[in-house]
Amino acid sequence: MENLYKVFGRRATEAVRRLESGTDRAELELPGVTAAVVDASFTVERGEIFVVMGLSGSGKSTLLRTLNGLLPVTSGRVLVDDTDLTGMTPAQVRELRQQRMSMVFQHFALFPHRTVEENVAYGLSVQGTARERQRTRTAEALELVGLTGWEDRLPGELSGGMRQRVGLARALAADTEILLMDEAFSALDPLIRKEMQDQLLNLQRQLGKTIVFITHDLNEAMRLGDRIAMMRDGRIVQVATATEMLTAPADEYVARFVRDVDRTRVLTASAVMEPAGISFTPATTLAEAQETMRRHELTGVLVADGGTFAGAVTRGAVSAADGAGSVADVLDRSAARVTADTPVADLFGVSAAAPAPLAVVDGAGALLGMVTQQSLLRSLSITEDAEEEVDAHA
Ligand SMILES: Nc1ncnc2c1ncn2[C@@H]1O[C@H](COP(=O)(O)OP(=O)(O)OP(=O)(O)O)[C@@H](O)[C@H]1O
Ligand SMILES: [Mg+2]
Repeated sequence: MENLYKVFGRRATEAVRRLESGTDRAELELPGVTAAVVDASFTVERGEIFVVMGLSGSGKSTLLRTLNGLLPVTSGRVLVDDTDLTGMTPAQVRELRQQRMSMVFQHFALFPHRTVEENVAYGLSVQGTARERQRTRTAEALELVGLTGWEDRLPGELSGGMRQRVGLARALAADTEILLMDEAFSALDPLIRKEMQDQLLNLQRQLGKTIVFITHDLNEAMRLGDRIAMMRDGRIVQVATATEMLTAPADEYVARFVRDVDRTRVLTASAVMEPAGISFTPATTLAEAQETMRRHELTGVLVADGGTFAGAVTRGAVSAADGAGSVADVLDRSAARVTADTPVADLFGVSAAAPAPLAVVDGAGALLGMVTQQSLLRSLSITEDAEEEVDAHA
């Protein structure tokens, strides 16, 4: 999407001109004109879940409808790969949409008098797909969302979560690379909603679709989004990963928005780890180890052998050996280690039980860094500076 404007009302072009010169949409002073999307630019990468997040009225649904060509744009461009959707005829847009994009809606949009199977097959039958092929595609899609066996039921016989899985199956049956989901889980109970989020993440690991997911729920955005676009009053104020948004909010608005997020679920070991500044090798003499630990007041130190994490030593074990031998003799080879993508929430327990810092390792066991109790506690208040700034402004 490139510098996209979507303005409703008769004096749309004039509105765009004013918005381009920096006028806020609230100060347009053009009666009957609503600037729903203002100068939106972003790129969605193939295979990512791109979340658009913002309060009610911020322009999310309008943005999505320009993205799939359901709404003509006032100004700007929408490119799918290199195809400019904004220059196409309605028939061309419809064809592109059918071939490449599927929608999942908040209120399921199922036909009440058609069975689950008929609902899922609907798009395929409209496209004129052969019966047999409809059958297999529908069966595959229902299996993906765990609804095999429910083919002959009517939507009214299903729970909300199941209905939304029918909606999802319908989108999957079309077998398009792009999925557009507008508040798809917002009507569901919290527990069911979490289940659906898990299921979507699972499906995404299998299918690798390109997903644009709209939500006004920040926790959902942070759980699902590879990247998140934050919208405010029609404008996109930041596009960033969840971690970036927490640690480097673009402005006060974003800082306030992310303030109440459970950051221990979003941040991972990689965001809180520090370089293992002091580490030993198995060959380090115990005399040297003891002296180093005393001087730096360390209770535990990580040990690496040629870059590979080998374990940890504690001050107690080193002292007890009384200077003779090397670190290898007192090495705890089973010392705690975590991978870089472990959520901070899962580190507290491990860290509290460990006498040394936690080792952060990669898949091959190389020591990437360490996490200490202090760095964990700091992670809880990682945007404190940003917040203080906000408070100073307020
Ligand atoms: N067809 C339309 N005609 C006129 N104004 C519209 C139209 N569609 C949307 N708007 C206005 O555009 C603005 C953005 O609406 P939009 O539905 O995109 O927001 P949203 O972020 O999806 O909100 P919600 O979270 O409530 O779904 C709102 O002020 C809305 O009233
Ligand atoms: Mg909406």
